[in-house]
Amino acid sequence: MDPVRNPYSPGAGTRPPALVGREREIDAMDIALQRLLLGRDGRSEMLTGLRGVGKTVLLNEFEHLADARGYFHEHIEVSEDGELPPRLAAAFRRVLLSMDARRRIGERVHRALGILKAFTIRLPDGVELNIDVDPVHGPADSGDLATDLAGLFVELGEVARDHGTGVLITIDELHYVKLATLEALVMGLHRATQLALPITVAGAGLPSLATLTGEAKSYAERIFTFPIIGSLTGDQPLEALEVPAADEEVRWAPEALTRVVEVTGGYPYFLQEFGKQAWDVAEGPHLITLDDVERSIPVATAELDDGFFRVRTGRTSDPERAYLRAMAELCPGPVRSVEVAELLGKKATALGPTRDGLLKKALCFSPRWGEIDFTVPMFDAFMKRWIPELSAVAPAG
Ligand SMILES: Nc1ncnc2c1ncn2[C@@H]1O[C@H](COP(=O)(O)OP(=O)(O)O)[C@@H](O)[C@H]1O
Ligand SMILES: [Mg+2]
Repeated sequence: MDPVRNPYSPGAGTRPPALVGREREIDAMDIALQRLLLGRDGRSEMLTGLRGVGKTVLLNEFEHLADARGYFHEHIEVSEDGELPPRLAAAFRRVLLSMDARRRIGERVHRALGILKAFTIRLPDGVELNIDVDPVHGPADSGDLATDLAGLFVELGEVARDHGTGVLITIDELHYVKLATLEALVMGLHRATQLALPITVAGAGLPSLATLTGEAKSYAERIFTFPIIGSLTGDQPLEALEVPAADEEVRWAPEALTRVVEVTGGYPYFLQEFGKQAWDVAEGPHLITLDDVERSIPVATAELDDGFFRVRTGRTSDPERAYLRAMAELCPGPVRSVEVAELLGKKATALGPTRDGLLKKALCFSPRWGEIDFTVPMFDAFMKRWIPELSAVAPAG
């Protein structure tokens, strides 16, 4: 059918043609935003899940909600360097400047920017933000990150409250942030929450997102819920396929739908990719058949292999690829590290650095001590397509 009218765009992080099955998370976030504006406690969300399940699109949705409720919001995407404080400072600056532009904050904005400036000067790597004000010392430049973030959240929260608005900061790929920084973020935000200020953070990350402990953990439980985002289940995957097509007056044959759900496991990213390829292959004009789906499966699989999966393996070393292939042999996961080592004919300790490399690259995560699993759904099947024989990476003996 006409590729120009193809409604399934698998661009990661872009708003899906139909955002299915996340009503609970969306409603809860909307309520939290409204409560915070009223000076009440409202629990924001920390989303975790594998790649391609729709965490980023949910965060985007939260931004739409914030917009509709009159909030100011900024989005941060953490990268592999794990740096958060400079990115937060930059986000705070943008919030302050746009608040000032729209609400004419006046003198107060200079003070807030000054506090922010002092904060950035104090950061270890000295990334000073280019802010044209004098630093204001005291509230956020003690050098203790938790205390200083508290100073910033409180300052920004007060400015927002005094101007009848709120602030939402969304932070994606939070798993790259180290535990100590994450704890500082929680402690800082908690201070603003105690003062009932209309400012909050919503985050998303892989299941490897550092597990908070102690005080930070109990604080975090008061300011966030921790929804686990997974594949679509029940009728949801059908809806994710049917709704976009129906908008174009195209129907799916029931057995065609069943087949797509079967091969995709209901994972949103895969549903969109298979939907897209089935659409392009189908003759139509108003029906996508099982035969269309069957013919599109090799195309969709190749697309995923060359894109979604391959971008993850681009920078892996030979030993890392061998490790991944051995894991695939033992999947569905999680698998035990000792068994992977056994399969590769090595000692688990000798493979420690390889395993750590994979965790650091966020290709894998460790759900429990001594266990490891893929952060990408259906990665085991990909590894087997890529390296069909285990013996190619694990010489027998
Ligand atoms: N609830 C949903 N319903 C339908 N499609 C979705 C849903 N969530 C995500 N998608 C689609 O799946 C793909 C992956 O979403 P994304 O947010 O990038 O995943 P993640 O951030 O978890 O890796 C996107 O193309 C998105 O449009
Ligand atoms: Mg994402």
